[in-house]
Amino acid sequence: MEENIRRLKELIDGSDNIVFFGGAGVSTESGIPDFRSVDGLYNQKYKYPPEEILSHSFFERNPEEYYRFHHEKLRLTGAKPNAAHRKLAEWEAQGKLKAVITQNIDGLHQAAGSKNVIELHGTLLRTYCSRCGKPYPFELVNEGEGVPRCDCGGVVRPDIVFYEEPLKDEDIERAVHFIREADVLIIGGTSLVVYPAAGLINYYRGHKLVLVNKGETGADSYADLVIHEKIGEVFSQL
Ligand code: OAD
Repeated sequence: MEENIRRLKELIDGSDNIVFFGGAGVSTESGIPDFRSVDGLYNQKYKYPPEEILSHSFFERNPEEYYRFHHEKLRLTGAKPNAAHRKLAEWEAQGKLKAVITQNIDGLHQAAGSKNVIELHGTLLRTYCSRCGKPYPFELVNEGEGVPRCDCGGVVRPDIVFYEEPLKDEDIERAVHFIREADVLIIGGTSLVVYPAAGLINYYRGHKLVLVNKGETGADSYADLVIHEKIGEVFSQL
């Protein structure tokens, strides 16, 4: 076992207050592309930049184009949790991990068995009418064609946080609580460039900050342990 993975294992074995903060890189080994890698969503060519398509005003203005993108790129097609999701669920079941805080919207942490998951950017698995709030089955958005409509005529939307929309206060408060109290904070599979989510790691007060990310991030310089490898491959050795 490599030295830095052995060090991570020591930190994990010695803690019963681990918190995980992650992003799209956690799901790439399940076959879901991330946003900013070379083969990520933001480096593919669309009529509009994906950041614009994923904004509140664009959704309101142009639901047809939004849903073209959604059905092509955000549709969930049966991806399964990988070793990283599974290991986090295992640590929680053993009482070692207190929370998973994720920017992902694919529900794979819960599919792996994690219970205390804070989904900062919401989830594709819930949908509701953007006009009257009525909930709809997820399949309507995931499997349909065109723009899904509510009985009231409003456009049904996924319960994800679009650009220009605030995160839920309750999610922020809970995330801050767990990060502030954490003994070991593991950050994994995130470029740490999207705020306010990325800023939450600044609430960590400990000295066991671990980063497991394929590429470099702005937090590399102050992390206590940095591992530039695939997170599923790393976690499967722990
Ligand atoms: P990004 O695509 O910005 O970053 C993913 C990071 O994961 C990159 O640094 C990759 O190098 C790394 N990575 C990819 N595969 C990996 C693997 N197998 N193991 C370890 N690291 C890996 O994704 P996020 O940081 O999650 O927001 O992006 C944040 C937000 O930007 C998303 O939640 C989304 C997006 O716009 C909204 O839609 C609101």
